[in-house]
Amino acid sequence: MQRHSDGERRAARRIGFVPTMGALHDGHLSLVRQARGLADAIVVSIFVNPIQFDSPSDFEKYPRDDARDARLLEREGVDVLFLPRAEEIYPAGFQTRVEVAELTQPLCGAFRPGHFAGVTTVVAKLFLAVKPHVAVFGAKDYQQLRVVRQMVRDLNFDLEVVRGETVREADGLAMSSRNVRLSAAERERARAVPRGIERVRRAAAAGVDDAAALVARFTREAEAAGARVEYAELCHPETLEAVSRLREPALFAVAVWVGDVRLIDNAVIEGAAASRPAAGR
Ligand code: PAJ
Repeated sequence: MQRHSDGERRAARRIGFVPTMGALHDGHLSLVRQARGLADAIVVSIFVNPIQFDSPSDFEKYPRDDARDARLLEREGVDVLFLPRAEEIYPAGFQTRVEVAELTQPLCGAFRPGHFAGVTTVVAKLFLAVKPHVAVFGAKDYQQLRVVRQMVRDLNFDLEVVRGETVREADGLAMSSRNVRLSAAERERARAVPRGIERVRRAAAAGVDDAAALVARFTREAEAAGARVEYAELCHPETLEAVSRLREPALFAVAVWVGDVRLIDNAVIEGAAASRPAAGR
């Protein structure tokens, strides 16, 4: 992979990179299309990274279909599919971790110990293998995007991290490789997640600015549908620290269990002031 990328760089071709864990859906493919507009040669990696899973059964049950994924990527005109084996990424004796400190404490980090260190370790290795000029990450995993940007800044990775917007199903559910594990009844219940976020957005636009009151609106919606809220939080979009009042646009981020499937979603929420046109303009 490194030799191939060295060749592309010598030929002055910009390398665009989209790292994934496979079981590709339109969310992934939208990142690929975005990367195509930013680079000449597109690399997609598929690697189900064992060290970022906090439960062995989630790792085992993670959907895998390399042949289908390869067909989809070929159709998108992707130049290279990088499919490393686990022993290549983590050979015997591997003992290094790349870890971002503060940003990995709240939200998913509080419930998934070691998860983000697993992500940054593998993403650092993938960046060093692929040598991209630009890498695209989805806003659906907002904290991951934020953490990867911090790692790139802190460790002087010479590349640009670009954000791709969340792609959703027709009923609003954010696309996720894990959605295929939902039964028909669970899939129905999962709709409460985007519905709850929309409810929060509307309440905020109507003037509710107390974080606890906004969170309660989401929790009621999710629990009424039989989903279990792991966390729902209003936080600063850059530091991810909890905010108690909506003064500036804030990130509303949630993790919800539907059956044994964990779903995450988020939206940047603006208060009533932001949605009213400013006087005199
Ligand atoms: P994975 O979950 O496969 O996601 C790969 C990329 O697709 C991530 O940047 C993610 O944010 C993005 N993505 C997922 N669902 C999306 C959606 N509905 N809309 C837009 N983008 C979406 O995230 C990972 O893999 C791994 O943690 C990885 C970064 C590959 C490291 O192992």
